[in-house]
Amino acid sequence: MNILLLNGPNLNLLGDREPEIYGATTLADIEHALARRAAEQGAELTAFQTNHEGDAIERIHAARGAMDAIIINPAAWTHTSVALLDALNAFGGPVVEVHLSNVHQREAFRHHSYVSKRADGVIAGLGAFGYAAALDFIIQHLGEARFP
Ligand code: DQA
Repeated sequence: MNILLLNGPNLNLLGDREPEIYGATTLADIEHALARRAAEQGAELTAFQTNHEGDAIERIHAARGAMDAIIINPAAWTHTSVALLDALNAFGGPVVEVHLSNVHQREAFRHHSYVSKRADGVIAGLGAFGYAAALDFIIQHLGEARFP
């Protein structure tokens, strides 16, 4: 089972950027912990972060037929990008959307997500644990006729 972890803009600054909102854990910490957690369950995790929307879209295209599922934190593109939604609509497998913060407690512009139109599940406000929850859920439920 191959799972893509895709993180969007500014998430390379995790641990340093607004730690009161996003926590002290770095993206490298999250990626390593998640890869280990995937391997322990017989899955393989590929991690990719970009600050460039076109690169994220190309990575999703490359995942078609190559990856079984996508865990995505689209960061600010969550609230702005129809292009990202369209790319995810062209991907056949399960998609889980993760946000470190509880976006619904924050500014009104963070309450709408284009990506949620496509995501099979959405996790928000659980901090870095949200990625682990998404991973475990995908591993346990992938392959079921109905997802989730
Ligand atoms: C975020 C929430 C977004 O609104 C914000 O633009 C981010 C991070 C989160 O993980 O909580 O960059 O996706």
